[in-house]
Amino acid sequence: MRPTTSTAVVGAGVVGLVTAWRLRLAGHAVTVIDPAPASEATYAAAGMLAPISEVQYGQETLWPIMTAAQREYPQLIESLSRATDAPTGYCENGTLQVAADASDRNAAADLVDVQRAAGMTVEPLTSSALRRREPSLAPGLAKAWDVPSDHQVDPRILAAAITTALNTDLTARHRAAGPPVTWVRRRVIGVEEQPDGDQRPIAITTDDGQQRHFDRTALVPGMGYSDIAGIPQQNPLPLREVHGDVLRLRVRPEQLMTGEPHLLGATVRAKVAGRSVYLVPREDGGLVIGASSREDGLVGTHVGSVAELLEDAIRVLPAVREMELVEITSRARPATPDDRPYLGHPGRQSAVVVSTGFHRHGVLLAPLAARLTTALLSDEELNETDHDVLASLSPSR
Ligand code: GLY
Repeated sequence: MRPTTSTAVVGAGVVGLVTAWRLRLAGHAVTVIDPAPASEATYAAAGMLAPISEVQYGQETLWPIMTAAQREYPQLIESLSRATDAPTGYCENGTLQVAADASDRNAAADLVDVQRAAGMTVEPLTSSALRRREPSLAPGLAKAWDVPSDHQVDPRILAAAITTALNTDLTARHRAAGPPVTWVRRRVIGVEEQPDGDQRPIAITTDDGQQRHFDRTALVPGMGYSDIAGIPQQNPLPLREVHGDVLRLRVRPEQLMTGEPHLLGATVRAKVAGRSVYLVPREDGGLVIGASSREDGLVGTHVGSVAELLEDAIRVLPAVREMELVEITSRARPATPDDRPYLGHPGRQSAVVVSTGFHRHGVLLAPLAARLTTALLSDEELNETDHDVLASLSPSR
């Protein structure tokens, strides 16, 4: 690296923001380029840090990576808390897996067998234990399991905290850190490597026609990767849009007993009549309900998905019916053909790292993706496990 490496982060969703933070902590002079930071999938995301209850069949290679990423959250939160007093939205509240009826119980029990065979801690709860733990859940649910290590972070609060930390003078708090970040609120239309001039070799063009030069760049543009000319066009990566509809509700004060903070303590991930729904309680009385998974190309909100989410949420937590509906958000998750993100150098471009295609797991995987991207762009040594992760996420796999 040059004494101060000038590094652009293209894309400021949660993965881009955490990457910018890690790069800054490693001493890079970071420029973040995005027309509207944290406004795409990050804006919709519920933020479940749930490597166990988010397990899906066919994604076995991703499971240990998800678990490893979750373990990196406390260190990320600690580094932010050292830089700013802003709340981070991180909450260790645990998760319950719930099956509504008998056929849901069979399907959920099959998944529990798979989770436990993979060494994950998932404990059955008796109905009286469930009742004591979460008295607001519907009576007569078929079965529940405790997943004590699956937690959550509010991605909007986290994004705001990282933004504050990126702007803060860190001289006294993180001594090796680079300067406060430069923000460019434009869309990137081209990324080229021009190694032979006097300029820094990475040329980034934005939609106002301006070109800026950097030593290195992290490309974290979500679905936008394929719209960028130059290196992305020379190294195409298939991505597909998986839309999700997410509801934000608020518990009304009259639904709570005096001193009671919320109707739910834990996050609930439920199977209801074969469908999946999750309910994520926020400390401020909010409740996030998600999430549909659609590849129908509809950018806006799908009415049927919203209807099903509400119906299923009410089946699990009847008090949802009396809550205030605050917001419905629909966004695309950028997904790869095999559901594993792309993380690594595109082709032979050692000054460029691409980090995209996080599908359902952008918030969860952000610290791990950011650490590996920073290591690659800082010429740091990686251990064997990190090499294995990078091999499985290689853009050229
Ligand atoms: N991680 C949950 C979702 O994408 O819906």
